[in-house]
Amino acid sequence: MVSQSFASLLRSTSHLSYRNLLVHPARRLRRFSASPFLNREPPHEPTPNPLQGKSCIITGASRGIGAAIAKRFAQEGVRCILVGRNEQLLLSVRDGLGTGDEHRVVVGDVGSDAFWGNMKKEKVDILVNSAGITHCSPLFVTSPSLLEEVMRTNLMGTMMACRTMGKNMMALKGGCIINVASLLGQKGGKGSAAYAASKAGVIGLSRALAAELGEKNVRVNVIVPGYIETDMTEGAAMTPNARSEALNAIPLKRFGRPSEIADAAVFLAANAYANNCVLNVDGGLSAI
Ligand SMILES: NC(=O)c1ccc[n+]([C@@H]2O[C@H](COP(=O)([O-])OP(=O)(O)OC[C@H]3O[C@@H](n4cnc5c(N)ncnc54)[C@H](OP(=O)(O)O)[C@@H]3O)[C@@H](O)[C@H]2O)c1
Repeated sequence: MVSQSFASLLRSTSHLSYRNLLVHPARRLRRFSASPFLNREPPHEPTPNPLQGKSCIITGASRGIGAAIAKRFAQEGVRCILVGRNEQLLLSVRDGLGTGDEHRVVVGDVGSDAFWGNMKKEKVDILVNSAGITHCSPLFVTSPSLLEEVMRTNLMGTMMACRTMGKNMMALKGGCIINVASLLGQKGGKGSAAYAASKAGVIGLSRALAAELGEKNVRVNVIVPGYIETDMTEGAAMTPNARSEALNAIPLKRFGRPSEIADAAVFLAANAYANNCVLNVDGGLSAI
């Protein structure tokens, strides 16, 4: 009697206990992911390459970080307009980007209002402001004209580029601006008054524009490099003592490569939800 009722109980519940196991694994997965709590993300269809076919202006593209960004963007299928003051250097960077005449060179001084007046007609998807100069000396022995040159190139150059190209991007109902600042703009450092002030300005400018242009579908982000191996940190630009002090302080114990900043630029350009990112790429120096 007892065993009979146990057998009937087993029969009556067996369809419940075995039900899930008998479902094909693919169908079981579908049931699982159909839960309203687990399936909050809309189906994500990754675009193979969101940058393919886009166009970009890169200032400071004749050397260093700007040239590395041009190279990476070209690999992603972005058409590049390279801006700098030295035509020969710009042409050699352009020739290294590969095919045909899809990449162009424009010679000019980013600190000049007239230059950006001439650039008004250019309509691009991405603007990268990498042009910059540095000058290391205590504020009280730096001439006003030198202070002005640093501010004019680094801050006003970036601001005028954003003003001109940002306006065009708003008219096109979309775009992306990436500004290159510096860790000195966040932390300061001896002898860097003008440079640090200009780069702090670039960070402030980028944040303000992320709010101002975001609703027009123009994203604005800023990369904050630490020490990167370029002309700016080589030879006469940095004493051996300053270099070894910097190396000592960086948790990763090396300077960054321009290509590592270029990878950050690709991320910011490709990620459609990136706006107001202040992206430190500094080997951990910002943590010290
Ligand atoms: N290297 C670092 O450790 C480091 C760290 C933090 C931030 N950054 C920033 O990263 C950016 C790129 O620096 P980098 O290291 O690549 O320096 P870089 O090798 O010295 O290159 C600077 C670039 O800016 C261009 N440039 C300078 N003044 C210009 C002007 N008035 N008009 C047009 N182009 C101008 C230069 O072109 P021409 O001279 O040919 O015109 C060159 O292409 C700069 O904004 C810099 O402040 C660099």
